[in-house]
Amino acid sequence: MPPDHRMLAALPDSSSHWLHSYPAHLSQTWTLPSGQSVVVRPVRHDDGDRELAFVSALSLKSRYQRLLSGGVNVTPEWIDFMTRIDYRRHMAFAVTMPGDGTEQFVGVGRYVVDSPGSSAEVALVLADAWQGKGLGRRLLETLLEHAASAGVREAVGLVLAENVAMLSLARSMGFAIRLEPTDARLKRISRHLPAVIARQH
Ligand SMILES: CC(C)(COP(=O)(O)OP(=O)(O)OC[C@H]1O[C@@H](n2cnc3c(N)ncnc32)[C@H](O)[C@@H]1OP(=O)(O)O)[C@@H](O)C(=O)NCCC(=O)NCCS
Repeated sequence: MPPDHRMLAALPDSSSHWLHSYPAHLSQTWTLPSGQSVVVRPVRHDDGDRELAFVSALSLKSRYQRLLSGGVNVTPEWIDFMTRIDYRRHMAFAVTMPGDGTEQFVGVGRYVVDSPGSSAEVALVLADAWQGKGLGRRLLETLLEHAASAGVREAVGLVLAENVAMLSLARSMGFAIRLEPTDARLKRISRHLPAVIARQH
């Protein structure tokens, strides 16, 4: 489906070339059991400030669980890598809501496809106040559905062995969980993705 040009025109910095490949049609609105709505959309190249604010506000525990290190230096280059994605090999969705008059990230999930194109490494994180509300499951489902529709055959991930929430979520969604031979602190999760007709994103 081509980009919705009315939507693109409403976006900032519309002269940027990346907007032509931005898959705006993948945006969705989710309504939580509380009645609150969040918008889930592909991450944009101009999301650097939102990504930085989101990561900076994470607790040390959530940051450590997501990045497998508390000491990751959030440099401008790192923010660029997380936001200037190509929507093919690297796909990311942000869960967003309005806050203080501007849009805020409350969750981000992404996958990066390996060079043969058959396997994707998946990772996600919800803001601390938004964990345990069902968003992680829906975000992971969205990532897996999108990866499968893009022709990826396997989803993999590295998870801290103490990360009960992520391991429980992964197990409940059909992931196998194994020891990571190179690092006893980690588990490797993997799940076959069903073959579906690959479509252009
Ligand atoms: C792990 C994480 C992504 C899960 O997202 P979430 O929105 O909190 O989880 P959900 O509310 O969707 O719950 C989904 C399932 O996760 C498991 N789960 C969630 N929180 C849990 C907890 N505190 N203890 C045990 N299991 C838990 C359950 O199986 C739950 O299913 P259920 O509600 O049917 O019992 C989220 O907690 C998070 O961002 N954690 C910090 C970062 C991280 O660990 N990322 C994973 C690295 S790849």
